[in-house]
Amino acid sequence: MTAVAEPMTAVHPGGRPSKAMANPGHGDAFTDHMVTAYWTREAGWGPARLGALENLTIHPGMIGLHYAQVVFEGLKAFVQADGSIAAFRPRANAARFARSAARLAMPEVGEAMFLRAVEDVVRADADWLHDNPRHTLYLRPLLYASENNLMLRASNEYTFLMMAFLAGGFFGDAVEPVRVLVSRDFTRAVPGGTGNVKCAANYGPSLLAQRQAHEAGCAQVVWLDAAEHRYVEEMGGMNLFFVRGSGSSATLVTPQLTGTLLPGNTRSSLLTIAGLEGHAVSEERITVDQWRAECAAGTITEVFACGTAAVVTPVGAVRDRDGDFAIGDGAMGPITKKLRTALLDIQHGRRPDPDNWLHPIC
Ligand SMILES: Cc1ncc(COP(=O)(O)O)c(C=O)c1O
Repeated sequence: MTAVAEPMTAVHPGGRPSKAMANPGHGDAFTDHMVTAYWTREAGWGPARLGALENLTIHPGMIGLHYAQVVFEGLKAFVQADGSIAAFRPRANAARFARSAARLAMPEVGEAMFLRAVEDVVRADADWLHDNPRHTLYLRPLLYASENNLMLRASNEYTFLMMAFLAGGFFGDAVEPVRVLVSRDFTRAVPGGTGNVKCAANYGPSLLAQRQAHEAGCAQVVWLDAAEHRYVEEMGGMNLFFVRGSGSSATLVTPQLTGTLLPGNTRSSLLTIAGLEGHAVSEERITVDQWRAECAAGTITEVFACGTAAVVTPVGAVRDRDGDFAIGDGAMGPITKKLRTALLDIQHGRRPDPDNWLHPIC
Protein backbone atom coordinates (compact mmCIF):
# COMPACT_ATOMS: atom_id res chain seq x y z
CA MET A 1 0.00 0.00 0.00
CA THR A 2 1.38 3.41 -0.89
CA ALA A 3 1.11 6.04 1.80
CA VAL A 4 -0.14 9.31 0.40
CA ALA A 5 1.32 12.33 2.17
CA GLU A 6 -1.32 14.67 3.50
CA PRO A 7 -0.93 18.23 2.20
CA MET A 8 0.41 20.52 4.95
CA THR A 9 -2.50 22.86 4.40
CA ALA A 10 -5.18 20.25 5.09
CA VAL A 11 -7.48 21.34 7.85
CA HIS A 12 -9.98 19.48 9.91
CA PRO A 13 -13.62 20.48 9.33
CA GLY A 14 -13.56 22.17 12.75
CA GLY A 15 -10.59 24.26 11.64
CA ARG A 16 -7.96 22.07 13.36
CA PRO A 17 -4.88 20.97 11.46
CA SER A 18 -5.84 17.47 10.33
CA LYS A 19 -2.32 16.13 10.84
CA ALA A 20 -2.51 17.04 14.51
CA MET A 21 -5.89 15.40 14.81
CA ALA A 22 -4.75 12.19 13.09
CA ASN A 23 -1.58 11.85 15.11
CA PRO A 24 -1.19 14.59 17.69
CA GLY A 25 2.04 13.20 19.15
CA HIS A 26 2.95 14.77 22.45
CA GLY A 27 3.65 18.43 22.87
CA ASP A 28 2.96 20.55 19.83
CA ALA A 29 -0.72 20.22 18.95
CA PHE A 30 -1.55 23.27 21.07
CA THR A 31 -5.22 24.13 21.42
CA ASP A 32 -6.74 27.58 20.98
CA HIS A 33 -7.01 29.02 24.49
CA MET A 34 -5.09 29.75 27.64
CA VAL A 35 -5.79 31.26 31.02
CA THR A 36 -3.54 34.05 32.26
CA ALA A 37 -3.24 35.66 35.70
CA TYR A 38 -0.70 38.07 37.16
CA TRP A 39 0.60 38.42 40.71
CA THR A 40 2.38 41.39 42.21
CA ARG A 41 3.78 41.77 45.70
CA GLU A 42 1.52 44.78 46.35
CA ALA A 43 -1.75 43.44 44.98
CA GLY A 44 -1.44 39.63 45.09
CA TRP A 45 -3.32 37.71 42.39
CA GLY A 46 -5.34 39.59 39.82
CA PRO A 47 -8.19 37.93 37.91
CA ALA A 48 -7.50 34.77 35.89
CA ARG A 49 -8.75 35.39 32.35
CA LEU A 50 -9.42 32.99 29.51
CA GLY A 51 -8.17 34.25 26.17
CA ALA A 52 -6.62 33.09 22.92
CA LEU A 53 -3.38 31.14 23.11
CA GLU A 54 -0.89 33.67 21.86
CA ASN A 55 2.79 34.53 21.95
CA LEU A 56 4.13 36.26 25.03
CA THR A 57 5.98 39.54 24.92
CA ILE A 58 8.73 39.42 27.50
CA HIS A 59 11.62 41.63 28.50
CA PRO A 60 15.06 40.04 27.96
CA GLY A 61 15.88 40.72 31.60
CA MET A 62 12.94 38.74 32.99
CA ILE A 63 13.94 36.90 36.17
CA GLY A 64 12.38 33.57 35.17
CA LEU A 65 14.51 33.36 32.05
CA HIS A 66 17.77 33.90 33.89
CA TYR A 67 17.38 32.31 37.30
CA ALA A 68 14.84 29.55 36.53
CA GLN A 69 12.23 30.69 39.00
CA VAL A 70 9.73 28.64 37.02
CA VAL A 71 7.47 25.74 38.04
CA PHE A 72 4.95 23.77 36.04
CA GLU A 73 2.52 20.86 36.13
CA GLY A 74 1.06 18.25 33.80
CA LEU A 75 -2.41 16.74 33.97
CA LYS A 76 -4.95 15.37 31.55
CA ALA A 77 -8.62 15.61 30.70
CA PHE A 78 -10.31 12.51 29.31
CA VAL A 79 -13.44 11.83 27.29
CA GLN A 80 -15.77 9.78 29.48
CA ALA A 81 -17.87 6.78 28.51
CA ASP A 82 -20.92 9.07 28.31
CA GLY A 83 -19.17 11.62 26.08
CA SER A 84 -18.58 14.20 28.82
CA ILE A 85 -15.07 15.38 29.74
CA ALA A 86 -13.38 15.11 33.13
CA ALA A 87 -9.92 16.01 34.42
CA PHE A 88 -8.01 13.37 36.36
CA ARG A 89 -6.98 14.29 39.92
CA PRO A 90 -6.53 18.04 39.28
CA ARG A 91 -6.53 18.71 43.04
CA ALA A 92 -3.39 16.58 43.39
CA ASN A 93 -1.73 18.67 40.68
CA ALA A 94 -2.88 21.88 42.35
CA ALA A 95 -1.31 20.71 45.62
CA ARG A 96 1.97 19.75 43.96
CA PHE A 97 2.03 23.05 42.01
CA ALA A 98 1.65 24.91 45.30
CA ARG A 99 4.47 22.87 46.90
CA SER A 100 6.70 23.52 43.89
CA ALA A 101 5.96 27.26 44.06
CA ALA A 102 6.70 27.40 47.79
CA ARG A 103 10.04 25.60 47.26
CA LEU A 104 11.07 28.30 44.76
CA ALA A 105 9.94 31.19 46.98
CA MET A 106 7.02 31.90 44.64
CA PRO A 107 3.40 32.72 45.50
CA GLU A 108 1.05 29.74 45.45
CA VAL A 109 -1.83 29.50 43.03
CA GLY A 110 -4.76 28.52 45.24
CA GLU A 111 -6.70 25.34 44.51
CA ALA A 112 -9.84 27.23 43.47
CA MET A 113 -8.01 29.36 40.90
CA PHE A 114 -6.12 26.32 39.60
CA LEU A 115 -9.31 24.25 39.18
CA ARG A 116 -11.15 27.12 37.55
CA ALA A 117 -8.32 27.55 35.03
CA VAL A 118 -8.42 23.81 34.21
CA GLU A 119 -12.19 24.00 33.74
CA ASP A 120 -12.06 27.15 31.59
CA VAL A 121 -9.45 25.78 29.18
CA VAL A 122 -11.10 22.35 28.91
CA ARG A 123 -14.53 23.90 28.27
CA ALA A 124 -13.14 26.30 25.67
CA ASP A 125 -11.16 23.62 23.82
CA ALA A 126 -13.33 20.55 24.40
CA ASP A 127 -14.08 20.20 20.70
CA TRP A 128 -10.44 19.22 20.11
CA LEU A 129 -11.20 15.97 21.90
CA HIS A 130 -14.33 14.66 20.36
CA ASP A 131 -12.89 13.36 17.10
CA ASN A 132 -10.99 10.55 18.73
CA PRO A 133 -11.82 9.56 22.28
CA ARG A 134 -8.38 7.95 22.65
CA HIS A 135 -6.81 11.36 22.49
CA THR A 136 -6.52 13.39 25.67
CA LEU A 137 -6.13 17.05 26.48
CA TYR A 138 -2.83 17.51 28.27
CA LEU A 139 -3.01 20.61 30.45
CA ARG A 140 0.14 22.53 31.23
CA PRO A 141 -0.04 25.00 34.13
CA LEU A 142 3.02 27.23 34.28
CA LEU A 143 4.12 29.80 36.87
CA TYR A 144 7.12 32.00 36.19
CA ALA A 145 8.90 35.01 37.62
CA SER A 146 7.94 37.82 35.26
CA GLU A 147 9.63 40.84 36.81
CA ASN A 148 12.37 42.47 34.77
CA ASN A 149 15.37 42.68 37.05
CA LEU A 150 18.70 40.91 37.03
CA MET A 151 19.39 41.16 40.75
CA LEU A 152 19.56 37.59 42.09
CA ARG A 153 16.49 37.58 44.32
CA ALA A 154 12.90 36.34 44.28
CA SER A 155 10.75 38.18 41.80
CA ASN A 156 8.10 40.68 42.86
CA GLU A 157 5.88 39.75 39.88
CA TYR A 158 4.68 36.40 38.60
CA THR A 159 2.61 35.12 35.70
CA PHE A 160 0.38 32.04 35.82
CA LEU A 161 -0.61 30.39 32.54
CA MET A 162 -2.78 27.36 31.84
CA MET A 163 -2.42 26.05 28.30
CA ALA A 164 -3.22 22.71 26.67
CA PHE A 165 -2.28 20.47 23.79
CA LEU A 166 -3.98 17.52 22.22
CA ALA A 167 -2.04 14.38 23.14
CA GLY A 168 -1.73 10.99 21.49
CA GLY A 169 0.81 8.54 22.90
CA PHE A 170 4.01 9.72 24.62
CA PHE A 171 6.00 6.84 23.09
CA GLY A 172 3.82 6.75 19.97
CA ASP A 173 0.41 5.17 19.79
CA ALA A 174 1.52 1.57 20.31
CA VAL A 175 2.40 0.36 23.79
CA GLU A 176 5.74 -1.29 23.16
CA PRO A 177 8.18 -2.13 25.94
CA VAL A 178 11.01 0.37 26.16
CA ARG A 179 14.73 -0.18 26.68
CA VAL A 180 16.25 2.11 29.28
CA LEU A 181 19.76 3.28 30.17
CA VAL A 182 20.96 3.55 33.77
CA SER A 183 22.69 6.92 33.97
CA ARG A 184 26.09 6.54 35.61
CA ASP A 185 27.44 9.94 34.55
CA PHE A 186 24.71 12.28 35.74
CA THR A 187 22.49 12.86 38.77
CA ARG A 188 18.95 14.23 38.61
CA ALA A 189 18.39 15.31 42.18
CA VAL A 190 20.27 15.71 45.44
CA PRO A 191 19.11 15.64 49.06
CA GLY A 192 17.96 19.14 49.97
CA GLY A 193 17.53 20.01 46.29
CA THR A 194 14.39 20.19 44.19
CA GLY A 195 13.87 16.61 43.01
CA ASN A 196 10.55 16.31 44.82
CA VAL A 197 8.98 19.33 43.11
CA LYS A 198 8.26 20.12 39.50
CA CYS A 199 10.48 23.05 38.63
CA ALA A 200 11.83 23.80 35.17
CA ALA A 201 15.41 23.67 36.44
CA ASN A 202 15.11 19.91 37.05
CA TYR A 203 14.55 19.19 33.38
CA GLY A 204 17.14 21.13 31.34
CA PRO A 205 20.06 19.32 32.97
CA SER A 206 18.42 15.93 32.34
CA LEU A 207 18.55 16.35 28.57
CA LEU A 208 22.19 15.39 28.09
CA ALA A 209 21.58 12.10 29.91
CA GLN A 210 18.48 11.65 27.77
CA ARG A 211 20.62 12.17 24.67
CA GLN A 212 23.09 9.54 25.92
CA ALA A 213 20.17 7.16 26.37
CA HIS A 214 19.07 7.72 22.79
CA GLU A 215 22.61 7.23 21.54
CA ALA A 216 22.69 3.92 23.42
CA GLY A 217 19.48 2.82 21.68
CA CYS A 218 17.31 3.52 24.72
CA ALA A 219 14.09 5.47 25.05
CA GLN A 220 14.69 6.80 28.56
CA VAL A 221 17.21 7.28 31.32
CA VAL A 222 17.00 5.69 34.78
CA TRP A 223 18.25 7.90 37.60
CA LEU A 224 20.16 6.60 40.61
CA ASP A 225 20.47 8.31 43.98
CA ALA A 226 23.07 11.06 44.24
CA ALA A 227 24.82 9.89 47.42
CA GLU A 228 25.71 6.26 46.66
CA HIS A 229 24.79 5.92 42.99
CA ARG A 230 23.16 2.58 43.78
CA TYR A 231 19.48 3.12 44.47
CA VAL A 232 17.04 3.31 41.59
CA GLU A 233 14.99 6.50 41.86
CA GLU A 234 12.93 7.19 38.76
CA MET A 235 12.98 7.31 35.00
CA GLY A 236 13.03 10.44 32.85
CA GLY A 237 9.69 12.03 33.69
CA MET A 238 8.16 8.88 35.14
CA ASN A 239 8.10 6.77 38.27
CA LEU A 240 8.99 3.07 38.25
CA PHE A 241 7.27 -0.06 39.52
CA PHE A 242 8.73 -3.55 39.91
CA VAL A 243 6.49 -6.64 39.92
CA ARG A 244 7.64 -9.57 41.99
CA GLY A 245 6.06 -12.97 41.31
CA SER A 246 3.04 -13.52 39.13
CA GLY A 247 -0.71 -14.00 39.04
CA SER A 248 -2.87 -13.03 41.99
CA SER A 249 0.06 -13.32 44.42
CA ALA A 250 2.22 -10.83 42.49
CA THR A 251 3.44 -7.95 44.65
CA LEU A 252 4.35 -4.46 43.53
CA VAL A 253 7.27 -2.38 44.68
CA THR A 254 8.00 1.22 43.84
CA PRO A 255 11.03 3.24 44.97
CA GLN A 256 10.42 4.98 48.28
CA LEU A 257 9.95 8.75 48.21
CA THR A 258 13.22 9.78 49.81
CA GLY A 259 12.86 13.49 49.00
CA THR A 260 14.73 13.30 45.70
CA LEU A 261 11.95 11.65 43.68
CA LEU A 262 8.92 13.40 42.25
CA PRO A 263 5.81 12.01 43.98
CA GLY A 264 3.85 11.13 40.84
CA ASN A 265 0.08 11.21 40.82
CA THR A 266 0.08 8.16 38.55
CA ARG A 267 2.35 6.38 41.03
CA SER A 268 -0.02 7.14 43.88
CA SER A 269 -3.05 6.13 41.78
CA LEU A 270 -1.43 2.82 40.85
CA LEU A 271 -0.54 2.05 44.46
CA THR A 272 -4.27 2.35 45.22
CA ILE A 273 -5.41 0.44 42.12
CA ALA A 274 -2.94 -2.42 42.70
CA GLY A 275 -4.23 -2.71 46.27
CA LEU A 276 -7.82 -2.81 45.01
CA GLU A 277 -6.79 -5.57 42.59
CA GLY A 278 -5.61 -7.58 45.61
CA HIS A 279 -1.86 -7.11 45.21
CA ALA A 280 0.42 -6.28 48.12
CA VAL A 281 2.25 -3.01 47.47
CA SER A 282 5.33 -1.57 49.11
CA GLU A 283 7.61 1.43 48.82
CA GLU A 284 11.22 0.37 49.18
CA ARG A 285 14.71 1.33 48.19
CA ILE A 286 16.02 -1.02 45.53
CA THR A 287 19.55 -1.02 44.12
CA VAL A 288 20.39 -1.52 40.47
CA ASP A 289 22.38 -4.66 41.43
CA GLN A 290 19.34 -6.05 43.21
CA TRP A 291 17.19 -5.22 40.17
CA ARG A 292 19.59 -7.13 37.89
CA ALA A 293 19.91 -10.09 40.29
CA GLU A 294 16.16 -10.37 40.86
CA CYS A 295 15.53 -10.32 37.10
CA ALA A 296 18.15 -13.05 36.61
CA ALA A 297 16.55 -15.11 39.39
CA GLY A 298 13.07 -14.58 37.96
CA THR A 299 11.87 -12.86 41.15
CA ILE A 300 11.20 -9.59 39.33
CA THR A 301 8.91 -10.57 36.47
CA GLU A 302 7.81 -7.19 35.13
CA VAL A 303 8.85 -3.55 35.38
CA PHE A 304 6.90 -0.56 34.19
CA ALA A 305 7.16 3.21 34.19
CA CYS A 306 4.21 5.45 34.90
CA GLY A 307 3.31 9.10 34.58
CA THR A 308 0.62 11.39 33.23
CA ALA A 309 2.26 11.48 29.81
CA ALA A 310 3.42 7.86 29.62
CA VAL A 311 0.38 6.33 31.43
CA VAL A 312 1.83 2.85 32.13
CA THR A 313 4.68 1.81 29.86
CA PRO A 314 6.45 -1.55 30.14
CA VAL A 315 10.22 -1.62 30.51
CA GLY A 316 11.61 -4.57 28.54
CA ALA A 317 15.37 -4.24 28.86
CA VAL A 318 18.01 -2.32 30.77
CA ARG A 319 21.40 -1.12 29.56
CA ASP A 320 23.97 -0.55 32.25
CA ARG A 321 27.71 -0.13 32.63
CA ASP A 322 27.78 -3.30 34.76
CA GLY A 323 25.88 -5.41 32.23
CA ASP A 324 22.67 -5.26 30.25
CA PHE A 325 19.70 -7.35 31.30
CA ALA A 326 16.21 -8.22 30.15
CA ILE A 327 13.05 -8.13 32.23
CA GLY A 328 11.05 -11.34 31.91
CA ASP A 329 10.75 -12.16 28.22
CA GLY A 330 11.00 -8.48 27.31
CA ALA A 331 7.31 -8.20 26.43
CA MET A 332 4.52 -6.39 28.31
CA GLY A 333 3.57 -8.60 31.27
CA PRO A 334 0.04 -9.40 32.44
CA ILE A 335 0.19 -7.31 35.63
CA THR A 336 1.44 -4.27 33.72
CA LYS A 337 -1.34 -4.75 31.18
CA LYS A 338 -3.99 -5.19 33.86
CA LEU A 339 -2.96 -2.07 35.77
CA ARG A 340 -2.67 0.02 32.61
CA THR A 341 -6.17 -1.03 31.57
CA ALA A 342 -7.56 -0.39 35.04
CA LEU A 343 -6.04 3.09 35.18
CA LEU A 344 -7.30 4.03 31.70
CA ASP A 345 -10.74 2.61 32.51
CA ILE A 346 -10.97 4.80 35.60
CA GLN A 347 -9.67 7.84 33.71
CA HIS A 348 -12.29 7.33 31.00
CA GLY A 349 -15.12 6.64 33.47
CA ARG A 350 -15.48 3.01 32.42
CA ARG A 351 -14.83 1.62 35.88
CA PRO A 352 -15.77 2.98 39.31
CA ASP A 353 -13.70 5.89 40.48
CA PRO A 354 -12.09 4.78 43.76
CA ASP A 355 -11.67 8.17 45.42
CA ASN A 356 -13.30 11.05 43.53
CA TRP A 357 -10.33 11.23 41.22
CA LEU A 358 -12.39 12.44 38.28
CA HIS A 359 -13.31 16.10 38.16
CA PRO A 360 -16.27 16.43 35.74
CA ILE A 361 -16.09 19.54 33.56
CA CYS A 362 -18.40 19.47 30.59
C1 LIG B 1 10.55 13.57 37.18
C2 LIG B 1 9.16 13.04 37.09
N1 LIG B 1 8.85 11.91 37.74
C3 LIG B 1 7.61 11.38 37.72
C4 LIG B 1 6.60 11.98 37.01
C5 LIG B 1 5.22 11.39 37.01
O1 LIG B 1 4.33 12.20 37.71
P1 LIG B 1 2.78 12.19 37.39
O2 LIG B 1 2.34 10.78 37.52
O3 LIG B 1 2.17 13.09 38.40
O4 LIG B 1 2.63 12.68 36.00
C6 LIG B 1 6.87 13.17 36.31
C7 LIG B 1 5.80 13.86 35.56
O5 LIG B 1 5.22 14.79 36.06
C8 LIG B 1 8.18 13.72 36.35
O6 LIG B 1 8.47 14.84 35.70
